[in-house]
Amino acid sequence: MKDIQCIGVLTSGGDSPGMNAAIRAVTRSAIFAGWKVYGIYRGYEGLINGEVKEFTSESVSNTIQRGGTILKTARSKEFRTPEGRTKAYETLKRHHIDALVVIGGNGSLSGAQELAREHDVTVIGLPGTIDNDLYGTDSTIGYDTALNTIVDCVDKIRDTATSHDRIFFVEVMGRDAGFLAQNSAIAAGAEAAIIPEDRTDIDQLAQYIGRGIRKSKNSSIVLVSESKKDGTGGALHYAERVRNEYPQYDVRVTILGHLQRGGRPSAYDRILASRLGVAAVEALKEGQRNIMVGIKNDQVVYVPISKAVKIDKPIDRELIDVLTELSI
Ligand code: F6P
Repeated sequence: MKDIQCIGVLTSGGDSPGMNAAIRAVTRSAIFAGWKVYGIYRGYEGLINGEVKEFTSESVSNTIQRGGTILKTARSKEFRTPEGRTKAYETLKRHHIDALVVIGGNGSLSGAQELAREHDVTVIGLPGTIDNDLYGTDSTIGYDTALNTIVDCVDKIRDTATSHDRIFFVEVMGRDAGFLAQNSAIAAGAEAAIIPEDRTDIDQLAQYIGRGIRKSKNSSIVLVSESKKDGTGGALHYAERVRNEYPQYDVRVTILGHLQRGGRPSAYDRILASRLGVAAVEALKEGQRNIMVGIKNDQVVYVPISKAVKIDKPIDRELIDVLTELSI
């Protein structure tokens, strides 16, 4: 493989707090290594359309504290086609970009994998998503900030839930993963979490009501994962069920939506993004390719992208038990 002299960096899929810190780290670390860096705008959409700009160290000044992504992001339909990926590859060739760093979630890293497979491009993935659903890393960039945002919101909801003696179903993001719901429920002292990973034949709502929590408490908060895959979940669905099956309870729903994705990244996310960004450049120096750089037990690790996107990341059963025990 020829020596790297020039890299591109892009963000793709849903934005997440800390993406700017990652862009900054990749850019500065690459410049430190003596390489040229191109920022690619609007994710794969910009790669297809040649929205590429050379980045200097100053291009990323004053960004570490900002949410969103200065490179903008997109979910590109065209990149899902072989024709789109060929156009993307041509942009890389035109600018003599030897390797591409992709900061994004599952779909974005799967796209990177396809590009690498079809066009022999060197790609490095950084896990950038609030969902924390990438296998091989303990945390993804943005997850900690989103978790803290949710906990702040639930603390506020609790005030009104308590004052009115109500059950609140609070719906949070996570696509098909329950990390945000489960851990925010623990951190906010909620009564239950309804998550896709635990959606077996046991009815989570009946189980929660059946535990008799409402006998000892006047109000309760249930965190509910949005349900993208099977469409059976969602806070509205559970609220409707309680209204029908347990009409004695006063129920309300709050869907937190996109406010969970915004805001200043936490110190944890900034440090994580900085470490992973520097590690991405280190990985390239070592001749690594088609890997995601993650964090395990506070150590930087390399995970084949194929594994990171294909293997389901399980929720630790212990977390489910902790919540169940502490919400009595
Ligand atoms: O993957 C990040 C995420 O925020 C998911 O939690 C959510 O399901 C999805 O993106 C929402 O995407 P969009 O902003 O395109 O509606």
